[in-house]
Amino acid sequence: MPDALAPTSDPAWLVRHDGYNIVTESAVESRLALSNGFMGMRASRAVSRGPTWAGWLGFIRWASWPRCYIAGLFDTPNTDPPVPALVPVADWSRVRITLDGEPLLAREGQVLASYRTLDMRRGVLLSGWTHRTPAGITVTGTEMRVLSQADRALGLQVLRMSLDRDGVDVHIEASFSMAGVGMEPARLEPDLGAWHTEGNYKSVAMACAPTLRIGDTVVQPARPFPLRWTWYMRSQADQVAELDRIVAVSRGDSPMSDPAPEASDALSRGRSVGWRAILAAHEAAWQDRWAAGGIELDGDDDLQRALNFAVFHLTGAANPDDERVSVGARALTGDAYFGHVFWDTEVYLLPFYTAVWPEAARAMLMYRYHTLPGARAKATGIGCKGALYAWESADTGMETTPDHVVGPDGKLIEVLTGKMEQHIASDVAYAVWCYWRATGDDDFFLSAGAEIILETARFWASRAVLEADGRRHIRHVIGPDEYHEDVDDSAFTNVMARWNIERALECVDRLRARWPDQAAALTKKLDLSEAELADWRDAATRIVTGLDPATGLYEEFEGFHKLEYVDLAAYADRTMPIDVVIGRERTQRTQLVKQADVVALIALLPEAFPDGTAETNFRHYEPRCAHGSSLSAGLHALVAARLGDKDMALRFLRQAAKADLIDNPATAGGIRIAGLGAAWQAVVLGFAGLDLASDIPALSPKLPPEWRRLAFRVQWRGRRIALAMNGSAVQATLEAGEPMPLRIGSTVHTLQPGATVQAAA
Ligand code: BGC
Repeated sequence: MPDALAPTSDPAWLVRHDGYNIVTESAVESRLALSNGFMGMRASRAVSRGPTWAGWLGFIRWASWPRCYIAGLFDTPNTDPPVPALVPVADWSRVRITLDGEPLLAREGQVLASYRTLDMRRGVLLSGWTHRTPAGITVTGTEMRVLSQADRALGLQVLRMSLDRDGVDVHIEASFSMAGVGMEPARLEPDLGAWHTEGNYKSVAMACAPTLRIGDTVVQPARPFPLRWTWYMRSQADQVAELDRIVAVSRGDSPMSDPAPEASDALSRGRSVGWRAILAAHEAAWQDRWAAGGIELDGDDDLQRALNFAVFHLTGAANPDDERVSVGARALTGDAYFGHVFWDTEVYLLPFYTAVWPEAARAMLMYRYHTLPGARAKATGIGCKGALYAWESADTGMETTPDHVVGPDGKLIEVLTGKMEQHIASDVAYAVWCYWRATGDDDFFLSAGAEIILETARFWASRAVLEADGRRHIRHVIGPDEYHEDVDDSAFTNVMARWNIERALECVDRLRARWPDQAAALTKKLDLSEAELADWRDAATRIVTGLDPATGLYEEFEGFHKLEYVDLAAYADRTMPIDVVIGRERTQRTQLVKQADVVALIALLPEAFPDGTAETNFRHYEPRCAHGSSLSAGLHALVAARLGDKDMALRFLRQAAKADLIDNPATAGGIRIAGLGAAWQAVVLGFAGLDLASDIPALSPKLPPEWRRLAFRVQWRGRRIALAMNGSAVQATLEAGEPMPLRIGSTVHTLQPGATVQAAA
């Protein structure tokens, strides 16, 4: 049997970090973080980390940022401005070792070797180290950490350790590190802790059972405090002590709920099968997820590994069983953006989940359904109708964008996105529509999806105001390009708004035709009159889009073309974002674009760019984009790939997929998961040219010549399809489900169950 604590030999599945460096440590902890969509855990070292209580002093860098998170566990800390943030829970990985009375600390003696390796195929974090203490004792250890994909309540740590000599007094202490826990203890028992948040009385319970074995002998721990277990032994050279710790976690969402029994039950479940069975179930679950969502790429090993990294974090971020949470901008891997959910989820991540894990996509969209009341309140608050989602959303759906932040120069900057970045409304509607078209999940559409699309359309119709020129304008907004604030008629915003309204009208027609009773019930519930629908039709025809019919070029927003053009080539060597280099005010006066904006529109709504105008707009906006956001490169890759510009597409794809694999201080706050989602889209929707939203799904690959084979699976309306391609040759196999059409290039084929179609695109 392979050693559970040894990494696989195939480098495509491994992300390894050797040693420890204060400058990169926080980013490494994000990069190698584990998550199962319910729990998240940064990859801080468990052993010999040393105290972590130091206060923040501006000039002192944290040597490590150990954090464990629970999805949906938000409270409002006493920050300025106070906004809800994910509450850190106790770090349950901590192990302290004392040898002859001296603590083993990384900063003392000599660390002869140390590594942390993410084995993505198995979904485990593996570490190892060899440490010679000042007293000359050599300690060797290996560790494995797991957040179970099979049973999300369970976490697991297995640690093995040996010394090079006899007769050392060894003291091992496994504990829950309480430093930095943002909650009040409610119950602390030897093997169980329960805490509640101070502000909104949410709760978490964690139950734990550690076992230390030497050979076949179980050594009994002392329990000096709750959630602290200590073992004493006298060493024998090369004798291995194995500590396994199973932890079970449960969340309570209301003041009345007591999560402790659920955590205890989960712990009993884990203990009754033991750590090897927990690991086996976890690995089997990962195997299923890789089979469903993995990308196989022959011909570029480096990119293959980066794509595995993307799918690894995308998979870890989701939880199909929890409709009350969605994926934050840094998932459960870091503190940046406080765990808030942005458009990142719907536009950058949902295409992945919809295609390969529809149950996870549905849960995230249900989160938006459950937060509709917050969206309605936000729309009403600005004098509009319908629903305007929070730009940054936490647990309740109320707007949680901070209204100011401290800028690089220490001055306060007003944050306008929470008020003005309103395209989030149609982004959510877009994801709902694409999910429904691709999955055929009518139950979701009837019980939640249609209502989201109608309410967001209603918002836009009330927001797009008729002016003297006979057109309807949407003024005072921010588009995806956040360098330009308070603009009028943002092309992205307005074209997506029009699309939102058009789809809502289509929904009404489809509902009336197929489900007249539900149509009547929903229009009654929403008090939707014929007059209002007529107003929507009017809005859809009159909304200003910024399109110049003569050139096919969209103007990013009113007046954009008149701004100063800046040649970005002159700043090619910059290491800071362009708005830091030339200043915020100057950036606002230029045509420099923060991130895919009109380019994002080309990615989302290719039909709005007929007759070569996608190319016209891409060639116009690509050179103006400063990629000041990790969201940007992946959508540029997607559009360039569809346009057949393989070199440019590959360059952007590498940038997107590797952004958190290379040393970048921005990773310290958590992995930038939207960029990883966009990398997946660039490969599957871009290079492979997959379209699942049409009634006939389609594939039109334009692969780089060095890619010998690209293969992946997707789901469509209850079917599972395996697709493989090289050059323009495509193989499509219907692995499960009823016969279905598939357009390959311009020919429509019928896929039969179990059969493979070979075709040239
Ligand atoms: C980007 C937004 C994004 C947010 C969270 C910002 O820098 O401009 O588009 O939603 O980060 O990832």
